Amino acid sequence: MDFKVISFLVILGFVAIYFFVYFLYVFFYFLLPMFFWGAFFAKTDDVSLQNMIKLAKIKPGDIAVDLGSGDGKIVIAMAKAGAIAYGFEINPFLVWVSRIKIKKAGLNGKAFVYCKNFWKEDLSKYDVVMMFQLSHVMASLEKKLEKQLKGGTRVLAKYFVFPNWKAIESLGMINLYKK
Ligand SMILES: C[S@@+](CC[C@H](N)C(=O)[O-])C[C@H]1O[C@@H](n2cnc3c(N)ncnc32)[C@H](O)[C@@H]1O
Repeated sequence: MDFKVISFLVILGFVAIYFFVYFLYVFFYFLLPMFFWGAFFAKTDDVSLQNMIKLAKIKPGDIAVDLGSGDGKIVIAMAKAGAIAYGFEINPFLVWVSRIKIKKAGLNGKAFVYCKNFWKEDLSKYDVVMMFQLSHVMASLEKKLEKQLKGGTRVLAKYFVFPNWKAIESLGMINLYKK
């Protein structure tokens, strides 16, 4: 076969693999969760994560949770900051990715991600609660947090705000609230 044809087929093969991997990424991260659970996944950016950790003032021994923990990025950062960190995530694929990342980061025993619906969880033991959820979810979450959190819990939300609670401090897209 002509060298040009072979080169063309090799390039075509790489392009096909690239699009196939991209399709798998979009399917498992975005389409599947949207279709089954009406949940969207978007990862918190590094600057917002740093701001969350700064505002949270995590102390060793704090118990922290990310409601809708995605690929575990926030859970891992909270554990690295000294918390016993938990994540509740409804998408099993993201739970699997999170657990691999936790193991890789050497945080087994400090960071935990469960494939659970956070609406069904009791949040009364947490000192720090983080979330990146849409406006309509924030409205319902405000009621749940109001009922379940103990006094003094720091609540950090990216971008979307609670309808009634007033933030006590803000940094970039992150708002800090205190119960
Ligand atoms: C915008 S992403 C945020 C991911 C991660 N917290 C971050 O900031 O990088 C929202 C996540 O919440 C999850 N989610 C939505 N509703 C949920 C529920 N009821 N229980 C558990 N996870 C949920 C979605 O699957 C998605 O991964």
